Amino acid sequence: MRINLNNDWKYKNHFTEDMLLNSYNDQEWEIVRIPHTNKETPYHYFDEMEYQFVCCYRKNLVIEKSWSEKKVILNFDGVLHLAKVYVNNKLVTIHHGGYTSFHVDISQYLDFSDEAILNHKNVLVVEADSRETNNLPPFGNVIDYLTYGGIYREVYLEIKEKIFFTDAFVTTVEVVNNSNSIDKEPISYRVKVQAKLSEQSEKPITIKYLLQKSSSCEKPLEKHAEMVNRKIEVLEKEFQFEFNVTDIELWDVDNPVLYDLKMKLEVKDDDITDEKKVKFGFRNCRFEKNGFFLNGKKIKLIGLNRHQSFPYVGYAMPKRMQRRDADILKYELGVNAVRTSHYPQSQHFIDRCDEIGLLVFTEIPGWQYIGNDEWKEIACNQLQEMIIQYRNHPSIILWGVRINESQDDDSFYSKTNQIAHELDSSRQTGGVRFFAKSNLLEDVYTFNDFSHNGKTPGVEKINKISSKKTAPYLVTEFNGHMYPTKAFDDEEHRLNLALRHACVLDGLFEQENIAGGFGWCMFDYNTHKDFGSGDRICYHGMMDMFRNPKLAASVYASQNHKKVVCEISSSMDIGDHQAGSIGDVYLFTNADSVRIYKNNEFVKEEFPDNKKYPNLPHPPIIMSDFVGGLLEQKEGYSHKTAERLKKVLFAIVKYGQNKLPIKYKMKMLYLMLMEKISIQDGVRLFYEYIGNWGGTVTTYHFDVIKNNQLVWRIIKKPWTKPKMNVFTETLHLKEEETYDVAAIRIMATDENNNRLSYFNSPVIFEATGVIELIGPSIVSFSGGYTGTFIKTKGLRGEGVLKISQETLGSEVLVFQVE
Ligand code: GAL
Repeated sequence: MRINLNNDWKYKNHFTEDMLLNSYNDQEWEIVRIPHTNKETPYHYFDEMEYQFVCCYRKNLVIEKSWSEKKVILNFDGVLHLAKVYVNNKLVTIHHGGYTSFHVDISQYLDFSDEAILNHKNVLVVEADSRETNNLPPFGNVIDYLTYGGIYREVYLEIKEKIFFTDAFVTTVEVVNNSNSIDKEPISYRVKVQAKLSEQSEKPITIKYLLQKSSSCEKPLEKHAEMVNRKIEVLEKEFQFEFNVTDIELWDVDNPVLYDLKMKLEVKDDDITDEKKVKFGFRNCRFEKNGFFLNGKKIKLIGLNRHQSFPYVGYAMPKRMQRRDADILKYELGVNAVRTSHYPQSQHFIDRCDEIGLLVFTEIPGWQYIGNDEWKEIACNQLQEMIIQYRNHPSIILWGVRINESQDDDSFYSKTNQIAHELDSSRQTGGVRFFAKSNLLEDVYTFNDFSHNGKTPGVEKINKISSKKTAPYLVTEFNGHMYPTKAFDDEEHRLNLALRHACVLDGLFEQENIAGGFGWCMFDYNTHKDFGSGDRICYHGMMDMFRNPKLAASVYASQNHKKVVCEISSSMDIGDHQAGSIGDVYLFTNADSVRIYKNNEFVKEEFPDNKKYPNLPHPPIIMSDFVGGLLEQKEGYSHKTAERLKKVLFAIVKYGQNKLPIKYKMKMLYLMLMEKISIQDGVRLFYEYIGNWGGTVTTYHFDVIKNNQLVWRIIKKPWTKPKMNVFTETLHLKEEETYDVAAIRIMATDENNNRLSYFNSPVIFEATGVIELIGPSIVSFSGGYTGTFIKTKGLRGEGVLKISQETLGSEVLVFQVE
């Protein structure tokens, strides 16, 4: 039996010893729900010391008499960063590190007297210390992200009999069929289960086990309702069993089939029973020297790094928000992999990665710094916890067993590799470094390649970096600090970020032996004073903190084939550019071509540029000629003359009339002498077809073509009716194990859905009914984007969010809370 303990906690932002006493009066304390952040922060411009203190959570437990015969196990999914847990004034456990879960048997500390049960006098107290001075990973030096504080992941009790499952790890291996039969035998898999019980039994234990397709599959249970249904007898506390299955479906990125192994334990002649369900998948994954292979098929890993932070509440977001990030990565950003930089992230997030087929590289907490022996021991414990807690997830393909970007430390890292291999022989290890020729103790050389500066090749050659040529090689970060970019930066800057990502991706595809790469990073994040743009934000994201996409996001999205992506790099407003010159316009798309129209006249059809990006599955389309055949059609010039004329006019835009290179001057002279084009003609043609500064407005439309069909029309013309595009994934929320949250993304656009990139005015949020706002009620747009979050407050019914903006009007979202 599981009892959620996420409601009705009392919270205080400091801690004193007397708070441990059951008699302590906490009546006046704030009542909070878990996930909880110890300090809500502004969007930016705040001091990270604000959340670094020791705080106190108290809760009166509601227990039952019958539990006195049982085991009461208290579970914390995550407490930042040093947690001391007390029950009835007794210290029951201390846990170091905020990124893994822990549990403790509190049976012996509970008071089962009628009085205590009736009046809820069993008091649970958590002293949560989020100071970065604690001697534990990731602390010790500077860190480029915030680490927040509080009980930020769920808490629950499990009521168990004396003997119960404490762990079960399922691995699978394909059974190699040596028969010479010509008939194709069905592939069979050997399933190995390593399980652990809370204690040894004197009497024989029967374990019944059942294998079936998991109910969390997108297409559940239509087949193989019960594939295996057997039992075994065990006596030991730790035991293993194995069985073969045939006719299973593999877990894959496109068809992530999950299975449930359900186990039931019964002790002979006793009431003792326990159940455990392990969700897992059948898949073979391997990093080889020539790339990454999933079920025998080579896949180029194209991923992004993800932090687990959100505006205002830091890490403290419940299930829906964790799952949503996985969906955004897979379905909006179109990547096939994610690195949980730089720590293990919510089980909800990884569960969703399992369900949708998003590959995960997860790693131990830490950032560049290795501490003393005590610190290293904690790191090793955190590694053990990470592997034991996450090893059944089929989406996880690699363990990161080094502190991100730390120096070589052979004795420490020999130990971490050994721990990982012992606890999970089915997966390889990696460990992220940022210097070449580091000692390779892991299975995969994982390297942060920041070599690309906008001009240099996308990535380094493997043999220049790796200390072992034959080792698998994976790029774990690129770009990031090389080119911070805000959603409200000017167009050129935003385009340059996109081009840098396109160049690195092209480089990753070019070198076939590179297993893939993870761009830095999924979204902007709050960071320490030592990093970021001075406002406590690192603007390295493909999205802003609300998960609104920057242009560069479309570089990733367009590499995927699943849905049509067309994102154009320019608003076509010449005044936003130096000397009124827009320069090359890029269309990031997976379509076949674009037909450009200017003032409704066809100009030109352009195609993906596979000369500049020969390796990208979908190179962008580059548009540099917005004159096309118009000089011929409208001015009657021959093709040759028109092309010559265009070259000169384009050169004037690029270099300016006074700095025109000699070859264009010659061309100009030729046109004047031979074609009798006067200076006045030239000026008129320039203004009409190219410059247009202060002239009548030009309107453009871009017809995007795929398989000879018009799939998208982008229209660029001056806005007349700006509007608000409000997007939320769901209007149906659920009070389940705790509160629920919906995210709202807002974009200011023109009537043709083009973002108004410099719209920075405030918007007002008003939540009524059974929902409340997270964060402030007045927020400014930033680069045409903003957002908010609403949460349920323990009630069912209707909740209304009103969003009002002076210029853009207002919008109302009606949420139903179950
Ligand atoms: C890396 C680091 C990341 C982030 C990134 C910015 O060195 O691992 O956490 O700081 O740089 O580019």
